[in-house]
Amino acid sequence: MSNSESTIKPWGGRFSEPTDAFVERFTASVGFDYRLYHHDINGSLAHAKMLAKVGVLTDAEFAAIQTGLEEIRADIEAGKFEWSIALEDVHMNIEARLTDKIGITGKKLHTGRSRNDQVATDVRLYLRDEIDTIAREITRLQSGLIDLAEAHADTIMPGFTHLQTAQPVTFGHHLLAWNEMLERDFSRLLDCRKRANQSPLGAAALAGTTYPIDRHYTAELLGFDKPTENSLDSVSDRDFAIEFCSFASLLMTHLSRFSEELVLWTSAQFNFVFLPDRFCTGSSIMPQKKNPDVPELIRGKVGRVNGHLIALLTLMKGQPLAYNKDNQEDKEPLFDTIDTVKDCLKAYADMVPAIQPKQDVLREAARRGFSTATDLADYLVRKGVAFRDAHEIVGKAVGFGVASGKDLAEMTLAELQKFGSVIEQDVFAVLTLEGSVAARNHIGGTAPAQVKAATVRARQLLATRK
Ligand code: ARG
Repeated sequence: MSNSESTIKPWGGRFSEPTDAFVERFTASVGFDYRLYHHDINGSLAHAKMLAKVGVLTDAEFAAIQTGLEEIRADIEAGKFEWSIALEDVHMNIEARLTDKIGITGKKLHTGRSRNDQVATDVRLYLRDEIDTIAREITRLQSGLIDLAEAHADTIMPGFTHLQTAQPVTFGHHLLAWNEMLERDFSRLLDCRKRANQSPLGAAALAGTTYPIDRHYTAELLGFDKPTENSLDSVSDRDFAIEFCSFASLLMTHLSRFSEELVLWTSAQFNFVFLPDRFCTGSSIMPQKKNPDVPELIRGKVGRVNGHLIALLTLMKGQPLAYNKDNQEDKEPLFDTIDTVKDCLKAYADMVPAIQPKQDVLREAARRGFSTATDLADYLVRKGVAFRDAHEIVGKAVGFGVASGKDLAEMTLAELQKFGSVIEQDVFAVLTLEGSVAARNHIGGTAPAQVKAATVRARQLLATRK
């Protein structure tokens, strides 16, 4: 990145002294907005093509601009482009280079346009591409979850409330709960895309332009659904970026919940799943350690993503219409949110298919902790006992179990009958873990048949995505 104070500013006409060196550095954004170059060039190409269509540029001028911009794109991609802080941002760097390359025609590119609508267009185009990448990554993660859920539709584990053993569930059912969260995240992402995918190009500085521009044409060339309605709003609001960050905060919240469970499950105390070594790291002092760093780090990264959401909300708050330089501050939080979300999704999509549940441990954990107590109460209700009384009876039986070290299924019929005289031999069928999960046989329930059906529906939803 070069810093030459002698560079003539594209806006320098009314200034009588050079910009202060610190101010130049302080106000420059090229150090981070250079990553918009690809979309900046695409936006410029669409603008120039439209100007030629409406007769503001000649076809030859457009052709020269097109060749020049494509050369610049190639130079940037080859690492041969020297970014200059004196030229402030990605937009003026590229435009100045175009003029260096093709002469006076380069100076015509900015006709009927401002950096205000240019940057709003670039950020929307950039975000749209990243949204599409993120959508694919969520789908890959969901697909892995659904496959694992299907393979473990009848693997029994303890279900928890308050992190205390509650009722047996299936491992597949648990994974499909994660999938539901992602399904909603996906739909929030697509919803955000709809509002981001509108073209601010042509709003110019704030009021529109006197040239006979065709905003529908540029919108179409850039794959936007339509031009935005109001020029003042177009150059100023960054709510589409805030919406994305809000989607990201929820997604990361969900990933942090999965992570917390993986951290617990891989501990020696739970020992529910095996996570391959390639997703873990060791300790420099304790030779026995295998730490679930990847889920831990993802759990931790929610902090920065939530921070970026608050940064953008605060940045936007109280801004008068129309564009203000405050908005230059939208980029770093947005970019870091995008990078973080992509990395965390990649880690999860790679890791999920490798999770190996330890079926024996899970089963034993479900067996302990009186997880079929509710089934016993429901059994008593079927025998004519009122639910509150049934609850009381089972509570007493559990108390006996705690004192005698016996699970409900390990008690004799005579022992159980001491608590409820209506209990008969058929009680043992409901006290089994398999009987317990199979009995919850309705949509959304944990019965293996329901879990299998849910995986089919979940996969059908994925198949409707492009
Ligand atoms: N780098 C600026 C930004 O990111 C581009 C727009 C500058 N517009 C202006 N009138 N100074 O917001």
